[in-house]
Amino acid sequence: MSELFIGLMSGTSLDGIDAALVEFNGDQGKLLAFEYQPFSNDIKKAIQSISIPGTPILLKKYGAIDIQLGRLFSQACNNLLKLANISSSDITAIGSHGQTIYHAPSMPEAFSLQIGDPNVIAEETGITTVADFRRRDIAAGGQGAPLVPAFHQAIFGQSFDLSKENITIANIGGIANITHLSASKIIGFDTGPGNALMDFWIQNNLDSPYDKNGSWAKAGEKSQELLDSLKQDPYFKLPPPKSTGKEYFSLSWLNKKISRISDCSAIDIQASLCHLTADTITEAIKCYAPLTDHTLICGGGMHNSYLIELIRKALKVPVSSTANFGINPDHVEAMAFAWLARQSMNNLAGNVPEVTGARSPVILGGIYPGRRRSRVTLKTKTRSHK
Ligand SMILES: Nc1ncnc2c1ncn2[C@@H]1O[C@H](COP(=O)(O)OP(=O)(O)OP(=O)(O)O)[C@@H](O)[C@H]1O
Ligand SMILES: [Mg+2]
Repeated sequence: MSELFIGLMSGTSLDGIDAALVEFNGDQGKLLAFEYQPFSNDIKKAIQSISIPGTPILLKKYGAIDIQLGRLFSQACNNLLKLANISSSDITAIGSHGQTIYHAPSMPEAFSLQIGDPNVIAEETGITTVADFRRRDIAAGGQGAPLVPAFHQAIFGQSFDLSKENITIANIGGIANITHLSASKIIGFDTGPGNALMDFWIQNNLDSPYDKNGSWAKAGEKSQELLDSLKQDPYFKLPPPKSTGKEYFSLSWLNKKISRISDCSAIDIQASLCHLTADTITEAIKCYAPLTDHTLICGGGMHNSYLIELIRKALKVPVSSTANFGINPDHVEAMAFAWLARQSMNNLAGNVPEVTGARSPVILGGIYPGRRRSRVTLKTKTRSHK
């Protein structure tokens, strides 16, 4: 019997909310509808204001943004249902990743915080909502990330004969992560910055949200001195399991590196940042997945044609968009959270311990019952007054 799930993703790029309506037959998902809801500048700024490392946050402000995001996620779901002409009662559950405001998996008190109140989502959509996927994996000793490899395996493992071909999927969002699939193993980790640093730099210099098709980077020339200095960051040498976020690869991280090198123009810095993303992804593949026969790319970075050109040049194997294998690169992450919600609702693990470093497979997330599941009969005692 098929079941319908919604996956909600709003990644570190802070571009907006991806909502995917997915029909599952077993763990094979088919996209039925997709809705993208860009963030307004106000909410973007609000999220940024509570995501700056080392900056105190007013609890009242944090609480308000948590609720605002919950409402925006609900709106995205309700719009998606309207678009697909499907009733909320037909949906088994929503998987909501939430907006990461801090990811610190390597501290003694490791934590990762995704907000967008799931109580609001369950109430405003009426649909059971699974959220807070990362913290159970962290509690089990893992990084809490990346969580998409199990979905990559379920969905792309079908398109290839893994006994004959090894594939690597690179998701290039704000942060980039790879999943390597072969007949005998699965590897996955965050390689470092994806679009995040390129976005920071162009936003600060040209007031443009991102470098369309990488054309600004392409018009510049990389500074080898800067690139070498950026690549010396210890994160790149760290063996997996590892994961990272924009609180680490931040604008201040970049500014510190830039201040230590001789003069470099803004356009050449952009070119160097594009090379940094391409180099760190391809070097991670060469180091940890050297037997890759085919690389698939998803995430917004797939639209950066200069970045893809650099990745193609560095890898000797075919590099394709996931679109060539049936899934639009912009839809993969949201579909993954629909899949993860299905896992949790069926009491199945969603993490891959070899990837996150967790002690064991665990069922991820908290479940916030929707209206159908929350009908509670209150037994009222009738007292007789004498
Ligand atoms: N035409 C384009 N040219 C260059 N870059 C693009 C283009 N379209 C999108 N992007 C990049 O993709 C980013 C958005 O990608 P995506 O939504 O996958 O990231 P994300 O929200 O951080 O996701 P996640 O964290 O889930 O991986 C934009 O911020 C931008 O940098
Ligand atoms: Mg996004």
